[in-house]
Amino acid sequence: MKLRTIIKKNNNKNISEVVARLKAGEVIGLPTETVYGLAGRCDSKKTIENIYKIKNRPKSNPLIIHYSNINDALNDIHKDSRAVDLANRFWPGPLTLVAKVKNRSICKSALSNMNTIAVRVPSNSVFLRILSKLKIPLAAPSANRYGKISPTSASDVYEELNGKISVILDGGDSLIGLESTVIDLTKKKAKIIRHGGINKKELNSIMPLYDNDNKEKLKVFISPGLSNSHYKPDTSLRINALRPRKNEAWLAFGTIPKSFKGIALTLSEKKCLKESAKNLYKMLRSLDKKKCSRIAVQKIPKLGLGIAINDRLKRAAFNDKTNVK
Ligand code: TXA
Ligand code: MG
Repeated sequence: MKLRTIIKKNNNKNISEVVARLKAGEVIGLPTETVYGLAGRCDSKKTIENIYKIKNRPKSNPLIIHYSNINDALNDIHKDSRAVDLANRFWPGPLTLVAKVKNRSICKSALSNMNTIAVRVPSNSVFLRILSKLKIPLAAPSANRYGKISPTSASDVYEELNGKISVILDGGDSLIGLESTVIDLTKKKAKIIRHGGINKKELNSIMPLYDNDNKEKLKVFISPGLSNSHYKPDTSLRINALRPRKNEAWLAFGTIPKSFKGIALTLSEKKCLKESAKNLYKMLRSLDKKKCSRIAVQKIPKLGLGIAINDRLKRAAFNDKTNVK
């Protein structure tokens, strides 16, 4: 059934309405500081089923569970001093911890029937308010169709899911613009399984972390959601580009040359990685709508937030035959 999708303003009345809808088991588009989420109560099988259906996401790919406070989040995982240290330093914020699950009331299908759980305390004040009023943790994947670009505004969610949900709460543009960093604490070696809003250097100030760049070849299971192809615009991408070619749209990192006459946007005039992260999905979406033959993205340094940006671009360009340097 096609639903009428409405974007609601962020005010007291609408927040109360959203809380009531969530309580009743509805799935709602909500702002977080990273990207918009498709949120539903984590203890309802029907709600969780609906999230997978709306996104067209494989059931084998588990959801992140969001909490209003650190204690509740840590209470749902087995005791781990590394989790406590990371939580105290980075929560509320764009960090997700994967650990052995303790709470049995969380719907098994939200965890893809695994004995591990991904937990996070977001810092977005609207999302936190809703979580505190609801008093039930929320399962929330990014609010995009499976494999597509994550939404960073209410109108992006509308573009992705119009007709599939009733309400999107407008919390403005996402502050960070990239998903949370995911850390796996289920093994002796803590490992970054998805680069994101908190960079490796900041994390390493708390503890040594292994990641996909390490020599250790990741032949075994890392994370069910780590697909090579993801965050994909419809237009093909050419990444690590030095300059645009004929008929390409240009996504610059730095100044757009005055002589360039084609379609162009810059992630950051002053080559700021934070600003680039915030603009990445928004600008890819915008250039995608221009229906040009290809989008070329200027080379971005692989340090700090640049690691997460390059990770997303690589997945977004996966299998694009034209993706030659
Ligand atoms: O910033 C974010 O994390 C956003 C906002 C809405 O919070 N959420 C988000 O969710 O990006 P999603 O579902 O798009 O990505 C969650 C990632 C997936 O790659 C999933 O496989 C991984 O977390 N994940 C979830 N539970 C896991 C688990 N038990 N073990 C390993 N990976 C897990
Ligand atoms: Mg996602």
